[in-house]
Amino acid sequence: MFSFFKKKDTLTPVNYESIAVDMHSHVLPGIDDGAQDVGQSIDLIIRMMESGIKKIIATPHVMADYYRNTPETIGNALAILKTELKRQLIDVEIEAAAEHYFDETFEARVNEHKLLTMGDNYALFELSFISLPMNVIGVIQRMRELGYKPILAHPERYSYLDIEQLKNLRDWGCDLQINTISLTGYYGKDAKKMAEAMVDNEIVDFMSSDMHHLRHASAFRKALDTPYVQRLLQDYPLKNILLK
Ligand SMILES: [Fe+2]
Repeated sequence: MFSFFKKKDTLTPVNYESIAVDMHSHVLPGIDDGAQDVGQSIDLIIRMMESGIKKIIATPHVMADYYRNTPETIGNALAILKTELKRQLIDVEIEAAAEHYFDETFEARVNEHKLLTMGDNYALFELSFISLPMNVIGVIQRMRELGYKPILAHPERYSYLDIEQLKNLRDWGCDLQINTISLTGYYGKDAKKMAEAMVDNEIVDFMSSDMHHLRHASAFRKALDTPYVQRLLQDYPLKNILLK
């Protein structure tokens, strides 16, 4: 009989304005498996803005094999996108860094100070989905020694890592970034469960879209209806805002 308390319009409206910054996305045109042309970039960016995002940090893949992006390829794609945003009078702040793949070339790139960073020297990297590389902790330590602040992308998606291992990585000074849409079940039950466990254990440092295409954009909007995302947006010490 108290069902009127549950009416949707009695809930606090929620969007991504409280975190403002999305720091993991593939919205630069034509340089990885995200937006393939500038029209697709704009479509994704408009969807993100409609959900309350104020600033977007694009993070194209940097890999030895598939996407051999460099500061030049990334800078060029960013310039093309900025020109089009300006032409269409779309007012959004956009920067670029990278999502570095932890392959056999990664440690060398760390040692040569070649990582593309965001904010106060934050460096986003991802692991293989198959197995944990042997030297992860060593490389994280090295990154810290060199002044980088490592952020592991979507830890909830590596099925070989359990919550204790994630806590351990974080204790070594590696921040953890979950994909917002993991909390909708977009990547399956296991990733959803792990993302929820990470929220419950208070080990989520950043939350971002990992936006590649319009299916991600739809899930990103839908994620606003999930209690865990609402919790992260309303009462949780996320660091996204540090990148403003
Ligand atoms: Fe990504």
